[in-house]
Amino acid sequence: MQTSSAAKHDTFAEDVLKGLSSTPKSLSSKYFYDAEGSRLFRRIMELPEYYLTRSEFEIFRTQAADIHAAFTEKSARFDLLELGAGDGTKTALLIEHFLARKADFAYAPIDISAAAVATLTEKFHAEFPDLRIAARTGDYFRILETLKTDHSHPKIILFLGSNIGNFPRDEAIGFFRRLRAVMNPDDLLFTGFDLRKDPRVVLAAYDDAAGVTAAFNLNLLRRINRELGADFDLENFSHFAAYDPLDGAARSYLISRADQSVRIETLGRSFHFRQWEPIFMEISQKYSPATIAEFAAASGFRVERNFFDRQRYFVDSLWKVV
Ligand code: AVI
Repeated sequence: MQTSSAAKHDTFAEDVLKGLSSTPKSLSSKYFYDAEGSRLFRRIMELPEYYLTRSEFEIFRTQAADIHAAFTEKSARFDLLELGAGDGTKTALLIEHFLARKADFAYAPIDISAAAVATLTEKFHAEFPDLRIAARTGDYFRILETLKTDHSHPKIILFLGSNIGNFPRDEAIGFFRRLRAVMNPDDLLFTGFDLRKDPRVVLAAYDDAAGVTAAFNLNLLRRINRELGADFDLENFSHFAAYDPLDGAARSYLISRADQSVRIETLGRSFHFRQWEPIFMEISQKYSPATIAEFAAASGFRVERNFFDRQRYFVDSLWKVV
């Protein structure tokens, strides 16, 4: 079921209220992706410092044949279900390879945004006229639940791009458990994880020289101004990124540069920010292969195979249901 825009608006307002009333203050990175945020994220993916997209691209470019073999171990025919497909650029590489090898599969992009799914479907119809596409709009789990009764061939669920890294640990495991509950025994899960590496490489990815990541974070304040009638002065906040090699978490903050109050009309109240007070914006967790295996075990899976890029910066991990 598609969330109505009124309901979405309420949730946004409630989440902003909750986040800015907490200590420390926080805002949820899931709200980064309005039209401008999505545009900025596409720019981030092209930055020299943002190695994640290139690394996963390399995996698909160089190991598509092995990935196909692993996907078809149980059955030559399969359904490829992609959660949060975005613009599908990475997936296109896999699809191109699979079609060139006459693989027997259908592709189902699943996204909460009907517009995103429609754009992707149109693009893939034009790019791959032979591809069978069965796009779905709505909540991931609800859609997968309705597909569970179809046992005709295995489903392979793609959750690419280290999106899982934006969840705190418990939520990440909770997400995998919910996925496990809507999967059948022969289904597979294929997830991208960003790996631990030189802390300087990670930090640079979230603190790029061109300032695109800063604009990406600040854009959420602009969205609150526009959608909730707030008066954030963006000049009074600056982006700060940190990477903690102890817990493998990159964290982003917006720092209040001055003692200031911000009015949010929709919430009917003001919030005070002390000078140098941080707003916690986003976690981007980095993993070790051992943690990935732990996550799989904790949520009812086992790691079937890991596909690493040459530098071992990133891994796409294929999980079987146990
Ligand atoms: C979407 N997600 C995996 C990105 C990440 O790397 O955590 C979002 C992002 N935030 C800053 N740069 C990119």
